Amino acid sequence: MKKLIILASGSGSNAENIITYFNSGNLAKVSLVLTNKSDAKVLQRCERLNIPAFYFNKAAFQYGTLLSLLRHENPDLILLAGFLWKIPSSFVEAFPNKIINIHPALLPKYGGKGMYGNRVHEAVRANSEKETGITIHYVNEHYDEGAIIHQEKVALNSEDSIESIAKKVHELEYEHYPKVIEKLLLGDG
Ligand code: GAR
Repeated sequence: MKKLIILASGSGSNAENIITYFNSGNLAKVSLVLTNKSDAKVLQRCERLNIPAFYFNKAAFQYGTLLSLLRHENPDLILLAGFLWKIPSSFVEAFPNKIINIHPALLPKYGGKGMYGNRVHEAVRANSEKETGITIHYVNEHYDEGAIIHQEKVALNSEDSIESIAKKVHELEYEHYPKVIEKLLLGDG
């Protein structure tokens, strides 16, 4: 059984989707969810789903405690699912090609520091883009710049609101993130 660890900062709907997806098979299991927000909704989701979940503070992230925990746990993949802090290079070096992120736009457009969640959709709408999508990529030491593993597009129209763009993007995320993870675990990503 492969081991997955998720890092999330907010609602955790992608985390829940990944947990549920792998619970229904025997390839992998989410063993742990870690969050940098003590009141993140992802903690409630994990309690309901019976998955261990813990909060960590900035000091634990910056000064090695979290990295030690991750090394000890030795996951097959570390999955970022709405995780908003920049991953330090020490993590990237410790887990080469094992840290994956999902970004709610078609990178390299609409990436970088401060571009997350609805802020991305607001920028996409402000530019009257005809399409948006998702990017699943390896994490390196720069925000949203690691090698792209998979992208999916969805069409937009002038009627789309921030909410409807977010809904379209979330639907793509729920459909494709677990499948891409599965492929990577099977070695045919
Ligand atoms: C997701 O749309 C994810 O792509 C995005 O945050 C949302 C988290 O939703 N991530 C970023 O913007 C990273 N830059 P969730 O907590 O419900 O999974």
